[in-house]
Amino acid sequence: MTFCCRDMNRWSRLCGLVLLLSHALMHSANAGFCTPTPGSCWPSRSTFSAWLATLSSTTRVYTPDTTPEFFLSEATSMNLLKSNFPGLIVVPGTEADLRSAMYFASKNRIRVVARCSGHDFNGRSNGRGVMLIKTELLNWTLYDDKTQAISFGSGAMHADIYSALVPYNRVYIGGQSKTVCPAGCLAGGCHGLMSRQYGLGIDSILEIRFALFNGTVITLNRTRNADLFHAYLGAGQNSFGVALSFKAQTYPAPPAILMFDALFDATADNAPGNLLSNFFLNATWFNDMPRELAGNINYEFGSVKVKFVYTGTDYDGTFQKLQPLLESPFTRHVTDPEVFPNMYEVALNLYPPVTDIWARKFITSGFLPQDQEVLDTISSIIVVLFGAQWFDPHEDRDRVAGMEPYLSGLYSLAPTSYSNEFTSWGTYNNVSDWKTRFFSNYDSLLAVKKKYDPCNLMTAKFAVGSDQPTAICSCAPKG
Ligand SMILES: Cc1cc2nc3c(=O)[nH]c(=O)nc-3n(C[C@H](O)[C@H](O)[C@H](O)COP(=O)(O)OP(=O)(O)OC[C@H]3O[C@@H](n4cnc5c(N)ncnc54)[C@H](O)[C@@H]3O)c2cc1C
Ligand SMILES: *[C@@H]1O[C@H](CO)[C@@H](O)[C@H](O)[C@H]1NC(C)=O
Ligand SMILES: *[C@@H]1O[C@H](CO)[C@@H](O)[C@H](O)[C@H]1NC(C)=O
Ligand SMILES: *[C@@H]1O[C@H](CO)[C@@H](O)[C@H](O)[C@H]1NC(C)=O
Ligand SMILES: *[C@@H]1O[C@H](CO)[C@@H](O)[C@H](O)[C@H]1NC(C)=O
Ligand SMILES: *[C@@H]1O[C@H](CO)[C@@H](O)[C@H](O)[C@H]1NC(C)=O
Repeated sequence: MTFCCRDMNRWSRLCGLVLLLSHALMHSANAGFCTPTPGSCWPSRSTFSAWLATLSSTTRVYTPDTTPEFFLSEATSMNLLKSNFPGLIVVPGTEADLRSAMYFASKNRIRVVARCSGHDFNGRSNGRGVMLIKTELLNWTLYDDKTQAISFGSGAMHADIYSALVPYNRVYIGGQSKTVCPAGCLAGGCHGLMSRQYGLGIDSILEIRFALFNGTVITLNRTRNADLFHAYLGAGQNSFGVALSFKAQTYPAPPAILMFDALFDATADNAPGNLLSNFFLNATWFNDMPRELAGNINYEFGSVKVKFVYTGTDYDGTFQKLQPLLESPFTRHVTDPEVFPNMYEVALNLYPPVTDIWARKFITSGFLPQDQEVLDTISSIIVVLFGAQWFDPHEDRDRVAGMEPYLSGLYSLAPTSYSNEFTSWGTYNNVSDWKTRFFSNYDSLLAVKKKYDPCNLMTAKFAVGSDQPTAICSCAPKG
């Protein structure tokens, strides 16, 4: 088995067969991941103690028996409906300790799950009986004046990066929520307020320092380990290893950023059509809006609140283009624009403090399709899903059931869907087609997976290779 690990670049059908055979021959207690359950191969207390003694004092480790209250609060996921109970929690204070944790886990066949902010809608930054590695202390940033690139640790949140760039008058292209982390966001693509100008977050990434299953670090960029570089940026959630840090190009900061709110009555009469079909979901109208205009749409009780964010300088031209909307029969109130000096201030002011309430509301981006029939479908979905307040778990269930009739219309938008913003629930949104739903070339991603994680130790729901046998070897030397 170690043959495959050492020679992992020469992963072959033969090697796969050998692994499968040895997997089949192994005692059942040795197959798959070790978990802290009776009869499983979870390491002994003394094995843990010996490893813990090697860690630096900045690293925190929580276990359910020694620190139960901390353990519970640290384990909780943002989506409470999809929380889980890990086997132990490691909060590395140094990269060396993160690598050591991965080495220990791979040697002992413990499943590792990385978590930055815990925003994952589907609880993929948690797992039953896993070693949960929280990267929050690895939140450093470093701007290089010469190359105008910013580097940051995988524990950094978007707010950390936006704020680090303020003194240099530059912007990073990432998500709009201040507490979301690039690490997980980039693993799916990452869209933000300036994506209509500069593309997705992944388009600006220059390099990733990456820890393989056993903690060994490799550099990924467009020429070195390019296969894994591209695989992480779009299909990376806990799949191939753990990203340690990123380097990204930056762009000149807008001289000022304007924000204003507009309140609309979506039920007002304006036959033919409605507020959404006439404007926000009207590709002709939307495409004519300046690239520097973005915003959030929040639909509740038939009224629509839009927060417009404008990063350009043509104020008169933009205001003129918005006139037909702002003077439509739907418009109730438009606030005076507030001026913000930089993206960091925008991120701080974009959301009310209780972001988890907002997380359940509709956030639109500039990526709208051209097909009017499909746009009309979306507007029905918005009405079904966001027509009322939405707080209780049982409502969650009812509401998603109500969405079922619209899924095929939504799915006809594009061949694939954004893997960072989906949710599945029982039979609702049964993503049995996940290989084609989230990935455009699954077979090549699977080849990358087998090359860099031959034992299949890194896994997550709907991740590349997640339907294959896991922990088929330990891939670390004994001792
Ligand atoms: C309130 C809210 C606002 C959002 N806003 C946006 C937005 O503006 N734009 C956008 O594109 N998306 C947005 N999203 C979706 C967001 O991109 C996903 O929730 C994403 O998974 C968050 O990544 P994270 O690292 O912050 O979260 P986590 O839950 O910590 O991680 C998400 C996934 O990435 C994995 N992961 C985390 N760190 C690493 C690492 N270092 N190496 C390997 N895998 C890792 C985790 O295991 C998990 O599978 C938003 C979500 C919410 C809830
Ligand atoms: C981790 O695995 C890689 C690939 O098989 C190997 O090159 C490296 O030496 C291993 N690292 C450790 C610490 O065992
Ligand atoms: C990083 O995290 C530490 C500990 O939570 C915090 O004190 C510090 O302010 C953070 N640094 C940045 C740049 O966010
Ligand atoms: C990729 O990284 C290697 C090693 O650091 C470096 O030599 C090479 O120039 C990098 N390529 C790109 C495109 O950045
Ligand atoms: C879409 O917008 C265009 C341009 O503003 C407008 O002429 C057209 O009537 C709109 N379509 C609908 C269905 O309202
Ligand atoms: C999802 O769909 C597949 C294929 O139709 C089916 O086999 C499976 O049982 C479904 N799962 C759930 C939870 O309904």
